[in-house]
Amino acid sequence: MRYFFLAFALIALLVVGIFGFHGQKFSKPPMQIFPDMDDQDKVKAQKPDPFFADGHGSRLPVGQTQPRGFNEAGERVIGGIPEYEFGGQTGYYYSGHVGDYYGTGMPSELELTEDSASALIHRGKERFGIYCAVCHGKSGDGLGMTSQYGVPGIANFHLDNFKAAAYPDGRMFETITNGKGQMGAYGYNIAVRDRWAIIAYIRTLQTAKETQTKAH
Ligand code: HEC
Repeated sequence: MRYFFLAFALIALLVVGIFGFHGQKFSKPPMQIFPDMDDQDKVKAQKPDPFFADGHGSRLPVGQTQPRGFNEAGERVIGGIPEYEFGGQTGYYYSGHVGDYYGTGMPSELELTEDSASALIHRGKERFGIYCAVCHGKSGDGLGMTSQYGVPGIANFHLDNFKAAAYPDGRMFETITNGKGQMGAYGYNIAVRDRWAIIAYIRTLQTAKETQTKAH
């Protein structure tokens, strides 16, 4: 019997607790056992704010603010690379695809000349060092620093299945952009042109290794 009353009291408490005060309004702030982030010092969009002299809560960007992808003059150029873009368009340059297939070769949008081709490869070397070498290794052999700490199965670019004949440039572009299997996507971090620069550099690494192997 004792247990019955105990259970009854508990259930009654639960029912009142869950449904009892539903829809009621209180004039005092509610008791917050776990306040989490219920109260924040923030200005809601379009709301006035007496903190600023003009009373507007929405502010204009601070002078000299440089939007991502633009230089100080407001041109779409950063670090000497025109067209600092992150894709979203269609076509080989932006997707690596030609119709339903992967394309291969450097896209004409890069407008490569002998000079700019070597600049592109240098840029690719730098970007590869920043974004890929931690896993794929400086030489592309898949033995980067993270492989020593247990990241398994990192691709070794010197295997035949990653050479241009088996693994078109467009497919590599796709892997960089959207990731593949255990590898994350880099499309949000690496501009379209830089992705092609990295591909050009990986091809250079592969050729360098082949020539070296042949010479021995
Ligand atoms: C955090 C570690 C990591 C980084 C950084 C990384 N990769 Fe990978 N990558 C992997 C792993 C792991 C695989 C094997 C994925 C699998 O097969 O599941 C892989 C696979 C690949 C492949 C082969 C994919 C396939 O189709 O089998 C390519 C090409 C590649 N990476 C290119 C790159 C390039 C280019 C960069 C730099 C922009 C890069 N990766 C950065 C870990 C990484």
